[in-house]
Amino acid sequence: SDTAEPVIVANRLPVTAVGTGDGTVRWKRSPGGLVSALSSRGGSGRTTWVGWAGTPSQGAAPAPPAPDRDGPTLVPVPISADEYATYYEGLSNGALWPLYHDAVVPPVVDAAHWDGYTRVNERFARAAADAAPPGGTVWVHDYHLQLVPGMLRRLRPDTRIGFFLHIPFPGKDLMRRLPWAGAILDGLLGADLIGFQTAEHADGFASCLAELGTGPPGPPRSAALRYGLRRDGRDVDVGVFPISIDPAEYDGLASRPRTRARAREIRERTGRPHHLLLGVDRLDYTKGIEARLEALRRLLEQGRLRPGEVAMVQVATPTRSGMREYARTRRRVEEAVSRINGEYGSVGAPVVHYLYDTLDRERLASLYRAADVLVATPYRDGMNLVCKEYVASRGDLGGALVLSRFAGAAAELAEAHLVNPFDPADIAQALVRAVEQSPEESARRMAAMRAHLAENDVHAWAHLFLSALTAAPVTTP
Ligand code: G6P
Repeated sequence: SDTAEPVIVANRLPVTAVGTGDGTVRWKRSPGGLVSALSSRGGSGRTTWVGWAGTPSQGAAPAPPAPDRDGPTLVPVPISADEYATYYEGLSNGALWPLYHDAVVPPVVDAAHWDGYTRVNERFARAAADAAPPGGTVWVHDYHLQLVPGMLRRLRPDTRIGFFLHIPFPGKDLMRRLPWAGAILDGLLGADLIGFQTAEHADGFASCLAELGTGPPGPPRSAALRYGLRRDGRDVDVGVFPISIDPAEYDGLASRPRTRARAREIRERTGRPHHLLLGVDRLDYTKGIEARLEALRRLLEQGRLRPGEVAMVQVATPTRSGMREYARTRRRVEEAVSRINGEYGSVGAPVVHYLYDTLDRERLASLYRAADVLVATPYRDGMNLVCKEYVASRGDLGGALVLSRFAGAAAELAEAHLVNPFDPADIAQALVRAVEQSPEESARRMAAMRAHLAENDVHAWAHLFLSALTAAPVTTP
């Protein structure tokens, strides 16, 4: 391979420690798109992965499992209960997460949270500095660790540092709300390459540099990049690298006889509807779960869809459940589900089948295979890998995708039915179009989206990012 295996630095290790109650821990796969993407990346040599084991600890982090044959070597970074409150829930998920998703809920600004964020970023930077070989490559991920590139550069100026943001980056008007915007921009500029999911996010970053940082970036150094700038005698590149999945994995799972049998069983159990709709999301206020339920409710109310004829499965994966906004969102979603079932369901025949659960990939693949329409209506989303998983699972060329214009994936999947998630009437209209489209039309759209995915899989994503990172000559300060 022409790209050296990087040290990966991310908030979560690919596995999470779960307490069993008897003082021992069990390890399970961590949630989220980042882990899905990087775990299926494969890779040549042995990767090191620096991250948190997923549970707050006193003192040292729990010893992670020994790596499997080609799995990464895991370097755990401990996070205390106090840091969980400040770094993880406070700054990362109470301030940055909502701010970077267009402030769907108001971001919480608290100096104690920022202190925790800084302290934990410092710890990650030191762990990365210890793990990286001389002249090695370090790839830092996501909004939790935006100060790491700058800190790591001071500790290990010999390394090449890449940073990739998995969620959107806001423009200057939102970023101004954060008192520490300048420090975050500085931290990011410690990297040699900063990657975003879409051109819009990269442009938001450029507007922040122009207004809140050291000035606007210049033109890119190559056609594969979007901006370039000089920083302390170094080149910093800014590029767009839409993340993806391993489509072969879902294609394989979905075409197994067992998965297809399960898919038929799902249709039986949901009452053999003409139209089976599906939503699969972490239970997060950015995902627009209520918006799509409201669209469905209106279609039932207007008689444009009839109970018995339509059913919906909504999978809501538990996430950040200790935070107030998440508990509130859960309540709202569950009220909306109950309202629809109360008004339009009957005994043994609810319209919406709701699962508050984390499903494994096999169960997801059978749902993807069973559903006529996947409905993904986030108000804002960095990419949305669920819709890519759905497309990858439809080797039969059946099914349709209703997708928010504000998901990163909308920039790539032009053959989806694109909607404005803030407008329930628009979602409703798209649902009707999706369920009424002919099998030929479904096949045409699905084939086009599958062709795009086949070319742009997660391996291509990692390869493009790492080649852009390692191609640039190292400039000594
Ligand atoms: C998003 C983020 C990931 C995060 C995941 C799950 O996909 O981009 O960095 O891991 O959500 O959230 P959690 O807070 O459980 O890690």
